[in-house]
Formats: sequence, C-alpha cells, structure tokens
Amino acid sequence: MKINKKLLALFSGIGIITLVLSLYAFKAHSRADQGYSPQPPWDNLKVLPKDITKDSLIGLMKNYENSLGVKCNYCHATSKVDPTKLDFPNDDKIEKEIARGMIKMTNEINENYFKPYFPDPKPEQVHVVNCVLCHRGTSNPEKYLSQMGKMYKTYDPNRDNRKEKAMEKE
Ligand code: HEC
Ligand code: HEC
Repeated sequence: MKINKKLLALFSGIGIITLVLSLYAFKAHSRADQGYSPQPPWDNLKVLPKDITKDSLIGLMKNYENSLGVKCNYCHATSKVDPTKLDFPNDDKIEKEIARGMIKMTNEINENYFKPYFPDPKPEQVHVVNCVLCHRGTSNPEKYLSQMGKMYKTYDPNRDNRKEKAMEKE
C-alpha cells in the first residue's frame, strides 16, 4: 500500500509537470501564430532610444494608436513581400515621419518647460505633455477643435493641405 501511494504521488507529479509544460508550449505556439515578431535590435530608430526594450516600444506604439484613434497601419507601410503584414522599419508613409517630429517636439516641451519645475525625486519620469493631451483620440487636433465653433477660430479647411502638399512633392 505504502509503495502504491508513493508511486501514485510520483505519477501525479509527473502528470502535473507535463501539463504545465504543454500549456506553456501551447501559449508560446499561439503567440508565434499571430505572425508578429519584431524584436530588438531595431532597424530604423531615429528618435527613440536605440536600445529600447520590446515591451517599452510596443507600449509606446499602443499609446500612439489610442492617442490618435488610429491603428498601426496609419503610420506603418504594408510589406511589399507579404501584403498581409506591415513593414515596421520602412519609412514610406509621411505619417511616420510627422510622428517622429511630434515625438521630438513632445520630448523637448517636457524637457525644457516642465522638468525644470519638477526637480526631484524622478525628473526623468516627468511626461506632462504627451500625444493625447493635444490629439484627444483624433489624428488631426486642429480639425477636431474646429468643430467646437468659437473655441478654435483659426482653423481654415482650405489651408489644411500641408500633408497632401508634402506628398505631392515626393
Ligand atoms: C502615430 C504613428 C505610429 C503608430 C500609430 C504606430 N507607430 Fe510604430 N513607429 C512610429 C515611428 C515614428 C517609429 C520610428 C521611431 C524612431 O525613428 O525612433 C516607429 C517604429 C516602430 C517599430 C520599430 C521598427 C524598426 O525596427 O525600426 C516597430 C516594431 C513598431 N513601430 C511597431 C508598431 C506597432 C506594432 C504599432 C501598432 C500597435 C505601431 N508601431 C503604431 C510611429 C507609429
Ligand atoms: C502640442 C500639441 C501636440 C502634441 C503634444 C502632439 N501633437 Fe501630433 N499634431 C498636432 C497638431 C495640431 C496636428 C495637426 C497639424 C496640421 O494641422 O497639419 C498634429 C498632427 C499629427 C500627425 C499628422 C496627422 C495627419 O494625418 O495630418 C501625426 C501622425 C501626429 N500628430 C502624431 C503625434 C504623436 C505620435 C504625438 C506624441 C508623440 C503627437 N502627435 C503629439 C499637435 C500635437
């Protein structure tokens, strides 16, 4: 009887380990199936830190999506090799280039006009201004504010063609 109990314990132990391992393998497998595998080292970062971790980079990208009310493909071009995928390092879309300028601008505003007034304990964590502060879930805040009538008088739809002009030039 005693031996049987020990054997039973041993077998159930093995059973549990096998179950855990197979669950883990299943999880890793289903992740790979999403067909999404960008990893550091990054190929084409010009403003973000080159050694940024995957979690931090994707966190930022999700934040851009939500702040502008867009999806990844608003800034990232479709892959020429596999049109079902995005080519993240590719710079073909002007939106990506505008976004680079916006990232720089936002960093500079925090650096120059907010950090000096938030000395300690962690000035590097001062990000008072971020995309959503202006964008509020829309890609063009000027257009959005113009819908509020008197609050934003300077908006002129005829002047709102800067992006298109830049694209024509290309
Ligand atoms: C508002 C525009 C914008 C959106 C939306 C956006 N990205 Fe980006 N993404 C950028 C910019 C700009 C860069 C390059 C930053 C730089 O030059 O430092 C970049 C870089 C990347 C890179 C690094 C590519 C490399 O190797 O150089 C990956 C990966 C990436 N984005 C994934 C995503 C994913 C996934 C999403 C959707 C969840 C997304 N991005 C949404 C603007 C955007
Ligand atoms: C200080 C306010 C402000 C902040 C902060 C800001 N933006 Fe913008 N952004 C604007 C305005 C205003 C426009 C529209 C410019 C125009 O009228 O052409 C714009 C336009 C854009 C566009 C082009 C949209 C289009 O299709 O015309 C992108 C992309 C963009 N911003 C990305 C970002 C990202 C990403 C961040 C955060 C890193 C950010 N912006 C932070 C004010 C801001």
